[in-house]
Order: sequence, then C-alpha cells, then structure tokens
Amino acid sequence: MMLMKKTVNIGLIGFGTIGSGVVETFNRNLPLIEDKVDAKVVLKKIVDLDIVTDRGVQVDPDLLSTNVDDILEDPDMDIVIELIGGYQPALNFILKAIENGKHVVTANKALLARHWEEIMDAARKTGVRVCFEASVGGGIPLLEPLNDSLAANKIQSIYGIINGTANYILTKMSEEGRDFEEVLKEAQKLGYAEQDPTFDVEGHDSAQKLIILTILGFGVYIKQENFHVEGISMITPQDIQFASKELGCVIKLLAISQLLDGQLEVRVHPTLVPEDHLLAAVNGVFNGVYIVGDVVGPVLMYGPGAGMLPTASAVVSDCMDIVGDSKKPLIYGPQISSVESIKPMTEIESRYYLRITAIDKPGVLHSISGILSNFDISIESVNQEKRDEGQEVPIFMVTHHAKEQNMLNAVEKIESLESVTKNTVFIRLL
Ligand code: HSE
Repeated sequence: MMLMKKTVNIGLIGFGTIGSGVVETFNRNLPLIEDKVDAKVVLKKIVDLDIVTDRGVQVDPDLLSTNVDDILEDPDMDIVIELIGGYQPALNFILKAIENGKHVVTANKALLARHWEEIMDAARKTGVRVCFEASVGGGIPLLEPLNDSLAANKIQSIYGIINGTANYILTKMSEEGRDFEEVLKEAQKLGYAEQDPTFDVEGHDSAQKLIILTILGFGVYIKQENFHVEGISMITPQDIQFASKELGCVIKLLAISQLLDGQLEVRVHPTLVPEDHLLAAVNGVFNGVYIVGDVVGPVLMYGPGAGMLPTASAVVSDCMDIVGDSKKPLIYGPQISSVESIKPMTEIESRYYLRITAIDKPGVLHSISGILSNFDISIESVNQEKRDEGQEVPIFMVTHHAKEQNMLNAVEKIESLESVTKNTVFIRLL
C-alpha cells in the first residue's frame, strides 16, 4: 500500500512585489519544493486588498480573496506568510495566526524590530514557529546560518552593509564623483530609491535589520531608540576622494554590532573601510554581512539584499524549513549571552576623519589643533589642498584613536570658531 504524503497548506497575506515573487517561485519550482520536503505543498489562499491588478504572475483566480479570515480562521491552514509590511494590521494578523496555531513566515523587519518579544512570546505559548530569513539581507542565506550553522561560535562582531539603496548611492558617488543629491534623484528615477528616501539613506532600515542581527548574534534585544543611527546624506565626493587617495578606504554605511571586553557596541553610521577589506567589494545594490566567530573566524555573506525573486527565495525556503521541522524550538541567539552591558556611543573609541570648512587665514589651523589637543585628541594627518586666502576651504584631518565624547566636544568647539563656516563632518574608521 502506498503511504499518502502529508499536505501542507499555505496562506499568503500580501500580493505585492514579494508576494508575487512567492507565487512565481511556487509556479516554477513546486515539484522540487515538494520533493525536498517530502510533502504535498498547497498555496491555498492569497489575500490582498487589491485582487484586481495583474501582478504579472500566473495565479488561479479562485485563490484570491480580500478577506484575511479566509487564511487566519481556516482550520486547515498550516503556515501563514505575512508580506504586507508595516506595523498594523500586520502585527494583529501575525498574533491571530499564532493564536490559531499557525506557523508564521514574515519579511517584516520593522515589526520584528519593534515587537520581537510580543511575537516570540506568543509563538512559544502556542508552540508554532516564526521564521524571518527574508527580513535581513533579502535573498542572502544569513539569519539561519548565523543562528544555526554558526551556533558553535561566540560571535565577536557583525559588520553589515544591509541597505542596498544607500550602498548604491555611495557606490555611484564613488565611481562617478557625483553629489549625493544628484545620485539620489537618479536612483529614484530608476526605482532603486523610494520617493521618500529618508528611511534608507538616514540608516533607519539598517537599524531595524541590525536589531535582528544583534538578537541572533548576541542574544540581546536592543530597541532602535537606544543606539546611534546616522545616515549618509552629508557625505560629499570630496570625502570619498580623500578617503580613497589619502587613506586607501571606501565609505560604506555600516551596521555594527561587536563585543569588546564584555561590552556590546551597536551602531549604524558611515564608516571608512579599508579597500582590502572584503566589505569594500560589496557594491551597488548588493548587501554583505561580515561576521566573526571565535571558532570559525571571519565569514562573509554576500548577495541580493532585496528584490522580488531573491526575497521570495528566502520566504519559500522558510516555509520549507517549517515543513521539514515544525517542532523546532524558537531559540534565537545565545540564551546565555556574553554581553555584560551595552556600551554608550559616547564611550566608543575610533580613529576619525574630519572635514572642517573654514576661512583660509593664518591661525585657523592653530586654533583647531589646539581644541583637539585640549580634548586629548591626537592628530595623525592634516591636509589642506586648496590655498585660497580669505576664502572658505575644506581642511581634512585624520586623528589617532579618540573617545567619541571627546570628539563631540571638540567638534562643538571647532564649530563655534568664527572662521569655521560650516558644520564639521566626521566619519569613523573601521
Ligand atoms: N529598502 C531596502 C534597501 C530593501 O534599500 O536595501 C528592503 O529591505
């Protein structure tokens, strides 16, 4: 007698770009998917407010519905995929799915970053799984490898280029010597950047993803308001050129989570990365995450950080993981963390690059170096390329290791000098 394979029913909430990618993935690869999980896999219902627009993928119209209860209240539904994004109603849908005993797959980094404990506590109570590989790094196998394949390691550091928009802009600025605003406008035209780019270019998207990486890497859940987040809008082609010519570095928006002497540093900001570092080669819209474990050493995970099919690849693979092991305990990150405290941003130490804009006249450099020295900041190099007596010129400086608080104090004093005409830009070196 032939044994019947088990059937797994999946409901998809959100038929937008990634939802369409999920449908396309099932259309293309269902036999392979079913073969790998040894089950019959059925995409049973797709719910969206708009079920009229042609999504460019083949779909049985009978699967479409505008009523989310067709998924959440269907007793035969095993897995709910949430791809509507945002906080509400996504949170309520996920909590309802969990309450009704359904496993959840989501790409919703914003929701996880803000409601991690609530979602995971609810899932542990009903014994369902919550998988979210697509929430960081799109299609890159990143979270499961970090959580599972590197489980034997104490994670020491995670450095991520995890926002494709910002990385695309910095790459273009660097390759073509163009201004931030100009490249941003072009990226918006090409659809690489949102009409309101704040979320991506000011580091918020990276911050949400870093929260998830920090949980998996260090077992610490830190809210966004509790760490430093800074974007790339003040970077100019001058900074990029100086970094390359004088320091052999590229500028990247890095999300950093690293453990030093029991203290965890969590921060997002532009960073000068040496050209021979693996992360320096992560260009354009691609993402790369560099993880150092105490046993494995450094590992780079690289690939497409967004997009319809890459992200769908992670979503569908999560579903398959659940089919393969629906009882796997929800353990994310080390349960006994090596983190003793979170280091306040003001206490981090770094080498700094500074761009000071000042009137070119005798004594200005003397005043600036005096201020730096008063705050115990030692100068490694000073460059003033243009001589333009009485006019505004950029002065580039690199410091030895200094404390962030001292740098903040020094920059405040420098900016109060009469001869300093613009805000000072300072960028930390990796
Ligand atoms: N907006 C993100 C980025 C992709 O630019 O990388 C989605 O996480």
